[in-house]
Amino acid sequence: MKVASWGADAVIVQGGEGGGHTGPVATTLLLPSVIDALADDNGVTSIPVVAAGGFFDGRGLVAALAYGAEGVAMGTRFLLTSDSVVPDSVKQEYLQRGLSDTVVSTKVDGMPHRVLRTELVEALESGSRVRALTAAARNANEFKQMTGMRWTTMLRDGRSMKKSGERSWQQIIMAGNTPMLLKAGLVEGNTEAGVLASGQVVGMIDDLPSCAELIESIMTTAHARLAALRTYI
Ligand SMILES: Cc1cc2nc3c(=O)[nH]c(=O)nc-3n(C[C@H](O)[C@H](O)[C@H](O)COP(=O)(O)O)c2cc1C
Repeated sequence: MKVASWGADAVIVQGGEGGGHTGPVATTLLLPSVIDALADDNGVTSIPVVAAGGFFDGRGLVAALAYGAEGVAMGTRFLLTSDSVVPDSVKQEYLQRGLSDTVVSTKVDGMPHRVLRTELVEALESGSRVRALTAAARNANEFKQMTGMRWTTMLRDGRSMKKSGERSWQQIIMAGNTPMLLKAGLVEGNTEAGVLASGQVVGMIDDLPSCAELIESIMTTAHARLAALRTYI
């Protein structure tokens, strides 16, 4: 409702099974709750709602449409395509994973972040707070050098995040981790030194189609499911 009141053209709703920063509520409940919040008495939403978190095929697309969404957004599924520029060794790491191989960690950047369960993530989870903050400050410094941002700009951003009450200073310092750890894992392919954001849906994916093949197969399955559902009407 807040985003709609800002005049956004559409809203993407990402349920807890989704990859990257995520919340505790599953798509099956978050999606209808957002649709209900934005709908008028006839069930029509004021802006299009796009469902995300756990989608990978035509069945999911039809399910999202049935909830009243206008479509789906996918992160992990597009990462695992032949068109994705993520190094092949990293894609293979994802393809080996099952449905229980992701974890929501707050130790990467202080916010709940769904990532592949790796040795690095387990070490972050069990490591000391002081060591985690020192590593985060080092990453914030590297991020500053990479982007050419000034310390004053970073501090000003941190202060406004703190003021809005969304994060503690510990979370703000740890925010420096995310870009550096994602870059190490997803761009440089260093799976031991970087984090690999991933949705639980990784456990349903075992191929690397092109984006065109993927969309075509999603649409073929979606049409087949819609045709099968007509028998209920
Ligand atoms: C590797 C990866 C990186 C992501 N990075 C971001 C990001 O920088 N900003 C953002 O808003 N969402 C990010 N996301 C979340 C996606 O935009 C999307 O909402 C999410 O992947 C949907 O869930 P799914 O992975 O089950 O498809 C990322 C997801 C993944 C898998």
